[in-house]
Amino acid sequence: MTVKEIFETMDYGPASESSKEALAWLAAKGDFGHFIGGAWTAPGTLFAVMNPATDALLAQVTQGTQADVDAAVKAARKAQPAWARDGHARARVLYALARLLQKQSRLFAVLETLDNGKPIRESRDIDVPQAIRHFYYHAGMAQLMDAELADRQALGVCGQVIPWNFPLLMLAWKVAPALAMGNTVVLKPAEWTPLTALLFADICGQAGVPPGVVNIVTGDGTVGEMIVTADVDKVAFTGSTTVGRRIRELTAGSGKALSLELGGKGAYIVFEDADIDSAVEGIVDAIWFNQGQVCCAGSRLLVQEGIAEAFYAKLRARMDGLRIGDPLDKCIDMGAIVHPRQRARIADLLAAHPEGESHQTRAPDGCYFPPTLITGLSAASPLMQQEIFGPVLVATTFRTPHEAVEIANSTRYGLAASVWSENINVALDVAPQLVAGIVWVNGTNMMDAAAGFGGVRESGFGREGGWEGLAGYTRPRATTPAAKPVAAFTGDGGAGGLDRTAKLYVGGKQARPDGGYSRAVHGPKGALLGHVGLANRKDLRNAVEACNAAKGWGKTTGHARAQILYYIAENLSARADEMAARLTAMTGTDGTAEVASSISRLFSAAAWADKYDGQIHTVPIRGVALAMKEPVGTIGILCPDQGPLLGLVSVMAPAIAMGNRVVLAASQAFPLAATDLYQILDTSDLPGGVVNILTGDHADLAEPMARHMDIDAVWSLGDPALTATVEKAAAGNLKRTWCGSLDWAQDNTKAVLAQATEVKNVWVPYGA
Ligand code: NAI
Repeated sequence: MTVKEIFETMDYGPASESSKEALAWLAAKGDFGHFIGGAWTAPGTLFAVMNPATDALLAQVTQGTQADVDAAVKAARKAQPAWARDGHARARVLYALARLLQKQSRLFAVLETLDNGKPIRESRDIDVPQAIRHFYYHAGMAQLMDAELADRQALGVCGQVIPWNFPLLMLAWKVAPALAMGNTVVLKPAEWTPLTALLFADICGQAGVPPGVVNIVTGDGTVGEMIVTADVDKVAFTGSTTVGRRIRELTAGSGKALSLELGGKGAYIVFEDADIDSAVEGIVDAIWFNQGQVCCAGSRLLVQEGIAEAFYAKLRARMDGLRIGDPLDKCIDMGAIVHPRQRARIADLLAAHPEGESHQTRAPDGCYFPPTLITGLSAASPLMQQEIFGPVLVATTFRTPHEAVEIANSTRYGLAASVWSENINVALDVAPQLVAGIVWVNGTNMMDAAAGFGGVRESGFGREGGWEGLAGYTRPRATTPAAKPVAAFTGDGGAGGLDRTAKLYVGGKQARPDGGYSRAVHGPKGALLGHVGLANRKDLRNAVEACNAAKGWGKTTGHARAQILYYIAENLSARADEMAARLTAMTGTDGTAEVASSISRLFSAAAWADKYDGQIHTVPIRGVALAMKEPVGTIGILCPDQGPLLGLVSVMAPAIAMGNRVVLAASQAFPLAATDLYQILDTSDLPGGVVNILTGDHADLAEPMARHMDIDAVWSLGDPALTATVEKAAAGNLKRTWCGSLDWAQDNTKAVLAQATEVKNVWVPYGA
């Protein structure tokens, strides 16, 4: 374009960033091997890495093998103990990495744009600075770990698999916290975008990262799967929900820690009192940032009916002004789609669902896709439900805040949402009602190392960033031996009086088991103590329905929940002798101390009910992120046998203290303590449906519990043999699982509270 033409058209002239240095770096490196044990391996079987904007070959990269993955894990294992030893030393290395990234930021930005097709403006101003920030932030965490997380330790070796939409940033999100907490890593970048990870490997040596602490292995999904199934202590994955589900199944029962950051279909809710121009501008960031290939994209627009047409008109005009083209041009708004295959996926999805009214602008030929707005869709339309992962915004309207919340939550995902309103009451009333791990008020797509990122439902579990993100890279220092299965006593003793069959407890009422079967409970010397019903999947379903009907419990105040927990404690205290006698008869061990401890646990949970506060994260925007602790929802719990009353109370009390509803499968060997307890619950003002108690075989209940779509989490704290079943079946709706055991003789209330809550980060303007 000539200067004359620029004056005539008043159009933006091209302002191309040079790719010279990045191409020179690639040329100097030649074909890439893996980075293992601090050194480059010889290139193996190679695959091509292309620039999606030009279809030019950028580099040839090695497809990993099992032997490569094994070597990387071995190197990481060897390096880990020394790396975990000194927090300050780690802080210095992480700081050095941040500084080197900063120093080389232009090279990283250009390489990222060449490899991924994203606009240089974004890689230069967002991806790379955010990655740098992550290393600075976590250098601080390494420094603080000994003092602030004295009861936590590194997990060991972390296997990390990342996607192609933010190649360097996702690496930073995975590597920085892992290293800060004393872990070593084996990371696989996505096969379409491995280059900045390889440049990062290059600077690890310069930053003084000891050999083996960071290992980068390249290749496709099969190599990802090799890492997932390797001898690693944790798997951290970001990518599609389909692959996330498979990884959940593959790791089931392995004892590996797991965090999954998966897809999303973020609601972008605009109320009629919103600052409309800001909300329109926000959409540019929400859905056309990174060509819409963003898991937390605001991809579902919900506009209040009264302003819808005017809003769409402004939005279409803004879309028409977006510049799409050469990603290296500093003036363009949208670059290339990452790969022709991803472009085809987007186009195919739209072609398969020719619904609504589409407004599409123009895009250059090649691997580009035009900004698209589809209005007039119903909330149930596949385009409103499926993650398109491209620059396609789908829209519908709503009338009331209640309807906005209903539509926003009618998705299987739960990652992020935006709320636009100038009325603080509306915005802050809607934010807590949205089922999402992140909510932005009058903003969108904001991220920062200080605020946890991650979702609920099928968007996965675990958080990345913030204090809350560190839980996923550490474990408690104190170790608890795995619980041993306890066999029920048998015998042929007579009832010695009335033959009593304890019923189940569902929705605040005693309920006969659906199957009509029961089993005898004997004492250690064979005496018949009573019978309990054998619950089946229908009883479980009824219990979950009761939980659904008791949703209001989550909205009660912590103070109110504390009152009820104290009341339960008081009533248990009044019947302490009777309960102790029952425990003694069932287990053969004097139950007095167990009852006393159970009362104490109820007090602990009551104490925390109004004190387990969230945090306020200071993020570098004119605002704050409120890290709110929310109940998980409905939790299915297979209760421990050790301490049949104490174990149950130790998990039930913190769970309900946080506002959850629970389905408890009572201790299989000693169930009568639980069936006695519900008589106490009945007289303690606990609303029906908050606690439901089933008796029967855990093996019969574990799988339906883990499969049930309305159960949000399953805790398997009884027989360790059920862990694999629970974790595998939980892959269906990607519910959280907690399988293991704690020493129930100790007060572990805080550990249970952490399991009983999700952190939602609500970003609000503050001081703007
Ligand atoms: P993907 O989930 O297949 O790929 C992500 C990463 O996982 C890559 O490194 C890949 O090599 C690896 N991988 C693939 N199969 C694996 C397996 N069985 N075990 C271990 N690792 C494996 O994502 P893909 O196919 O590139 O994109 C498909 C869709 O996924 C997109 O259209 C989008 O909807 C979604 N997606 C979501 C992302 C997010 O950030 N939430 C990121 C990338 C894709």
